[in-house]
Amino acid sequence: MEFSQQLSTTPKSDEERAAVLANPGFGDHFTDHTAVIDWNWTHDGGRWSNARIEPYGPIALDPAASVLHYGQEIFEGLKAYRHADGTVWSFRPEANADRFNKSAQRLALPELPVEAFVESLKEIVKADRSWVPTGDGEALYLRPFMIATEAFLGVRPAREVSYRVIASPAGNYFGGELKPVNIWLSTKYARAGRGGTGEAKCGGNYAASLAAQLEAEENGCQQVLFLDPFNDDAVEELGGMNVFFVFDDGRVVTPTLNGTILHGVTRKSVIQLLKDRGLTVEERKFTLDEWRRTAANGTLREVFACGTAAVITPIGQLKTAEGDIASPALAADSVTLGIREELLGIQTGAVADKHGWLTRL
Ligand code: COI
Repeated sequence: MEFSQQLSTTPKSDEERAAVLANPGFGDHFTDHTAVIDWNWTHDGGRWSNARIEPYGPIALDPAASVLHYGQEIFEGLKAYRHADGTVWSFRPEANADRFNKSAQRLALPELPVEAFVESLKEIVKADRSWVPTGDGEALYLRPFMIATEAFLGVRPAREVSYRVIASPAGNYFGGELKPVNIWLSTKYARAGRGGTGEAKCGGNYAASLAAQLEAEENGCQQVLFLDPFNDDAVEELGGMNVFFVFDDGRVVTPTLNGTILHGVTRKSVIQLLKDRGLTVEERKFTLDEWRRTAANGTLREVFACGTAAVITPIGQLKTAEGDIASPALAADSVTLGIREELLGIQTGAVADKHGWLTRL
């Protein structure tokens, strides 16, 4: 797919960009360009057209655009990493493209060919290469998304859709240096239900997590944990990341993908890296009760969250209305920190990419 180029005539100055890159934070700053592809419904299934790079800026939307009313929207998150030789790489972008298309199916949006998805990443990075940070643990966060732009208030899949990619220099999602985060157990709210949109990456899931996230913050926590109250209080996921439990005998447990949990690309990669180390990974139901029991008897050693934005972040305490569950202090040779270093090493080119996960942008 050919992208036409309309480059910004007012890009940020070198000084402005340097000031952002000196302290990128997460999600606050955006690059000079955006990639866009339009989709229109046709009798024979619809057509993608007008692929372009244009200056970053507000989107003109009809107030009746169906995304504004019925939330027909999906998104992805992945990163572009600068290697020591200056080249820029992404991590398993085809996996994000596949998940994007699964989300599209669930939200009745059109599927985007995988090659067009990957090409759009290459195009935005080509236009905004100078925005890819170089600092430790930093990357250019890429946010592809698709919205229903048709002005129509009937409830049916939109016939006009826009696919876009924006980019944002990113450091630690939780701010500052890496340290364990505390998470709040939500008992009042569920994130997803059987047959719902839990495994799709759609804005609605995140909107539904926000009241619980506020509750977490009121209780001094940075993230919220959701359970499945109709499945013995099985652990599902955090507001925006998957969760892993490491045991003293080399077993690692993570909730199974049962239709309500996001198919994390980081989750999938971590499972592979754990297996490469000879650890036993169990994808299965893990209940709050088992968490309490194994934390109390000392067999549970580490708990961590993972995601593109969060990378791998240790979990310190699970705070609940009925008492807290603390994780032991992390040992210097912990699985959590070892896997984090290996994953970041692969992504940034410091560790050999033996699974062929990197794609040059
Ligand atoms: C990601 O990890 O990329 C996510 O999309 C999670 C969150 C920041 C929404």
